[in-house]
Amino acid sequence: MNVSAPEDRASTSLFAPLHLGSILLSHRVVLAPLTRNRARPSETYINTWVPTELNVSYYSERATPGGLLISEATPVSRRASGTLGIPGIFTPEQCEGWAKVTRVVHEKQGFIFCQLWHQGRTTHSRLTGLETWSASAIPIQETPHLSKGLDPVPQDVPHAMSLSDIQETHQEYVSAAQNAIASGFDGVEVHGANGYLPDQFHHSNVNVRTDEYGGTPEKRCRFTIELVEKLCRAVGKDKVGVRLSPFGLFNETRGEDRQRQWTYLCGKLSELGIAYIHLIEPRFDEWRTEAQKLDWLLHRADTREEASLRPYRAAIQPPTACIVAGGYHPGNCWEGVEKVRLFRMFLSNLSSVYFGEGRP
Ligand SMILES: Cc1cc2nc3c(=O)[nH]c(=O)nc-3n(C[C@H](O)[C@H](O)[C@H](O)COP(=O)(O)O)c2cc1C
Repeated sequence: MNVSAPEDRASTSLFAPLHLGSILLSHRVVLAPLTRNRARPSETYINTWVPTELNVSYYSERATPGGLLISEATPVSRRASGTLGIPGIFTPEQCEGWAKVTRVVHEKQGFIFCQLWHQGRTTHSRLTGLETWSASAIPIQETPHLSKGLDPVPQDVPHAMSLSDIQETHQEYVSAAQNAIASGFDGVEVHGANGYLPDQFHHSNVNVRTDEYGGTPEKRCRFTIELVEKLCRAVGKDKVGVRLSPFGLFNETRGEDRQRQWTYLCGKLSELGIAYIHLIEPRFDEWRTEAQKLDWLLHRADTREEASLRPYRAAIQPPTACIVAGGYHPGNCWEGVEKVRLFRMFLSNLSSVYFGEGRP
């Protein structure tokens, strides 16, 4: 439904301040995380990429006083990487590059969170030089994406992570988060959406484990919840956000029991008192049109009744705020602003919408 913009846009909650963890936003227009593939290859470390002046100018151009930027997905380790031109945050030169980015954003009185990324089974050992890891030994069927810079070859059959692999991976996230804060980021966002490593644990078709990390919706959330707990201890809960895609299909995620699982996950993460949970709207899909995606959801038993973020938003309680993204534009964003009082909704310049709990 399209709703025209209120005449006095400045008086809407879009331009009201909001506490988001440790920062005070002066408006609620948030830049979504957007992979740009603009980093340079490292001359020192194999299979790693480093932020450049182009990254600095890209973020500087989008910084506004009191506004929040979320960085492109940023690998936490070499094993987590796997797409050309993506700057990680696990080597000194990467941290130096990111420090230049955060400096220019802060010079404009803006804020920036670092999106922490682990590709899990969606990477390839030929790109990382390391074994590919995932929740279970279930490969993606698709051939690698062209941006991975390989001739099409079958995806790796991933190694099913042992309990010590899980601990090691959590520690890589913690080190990356500490690097991010030391490089000037205002916080970190766990990329727990779109079929990457945490989401590989979430989905029952990718995670067939029978230990405490699989087998039930609650156990499939354990990898993410424990990770977020460790990040909160390492950098502070007010500097941690998480991105989730309860309706995602990307990277062959076809998990069942979604509403029970993501409601539980949102509730648990909110209980930790993190800064925000960032949800992707059901209508958005990487490959399908909005109409195709909604049609697909209509034909699934677990989404036929309600393809909406409502149950997940309801599970998120203050002080944790809620950010939403996916398919917002000036024609559909104002409905929420005018009608939703508990959560007020916001549109971005590019591709993200902010949906905060309204605490000034
Ligand atoms: C070019 C491009 C790069 C993206 N990179 C990321 C990313 O690095 N991390 C992420 O969580 N989402 C990524 N996304 C998804 C967006 O953050 C967003 O969820 C999606 O575009 C839906 O919002 P929109 O309908 O406003 O575009 C990307 C999307 C695009 C188009």
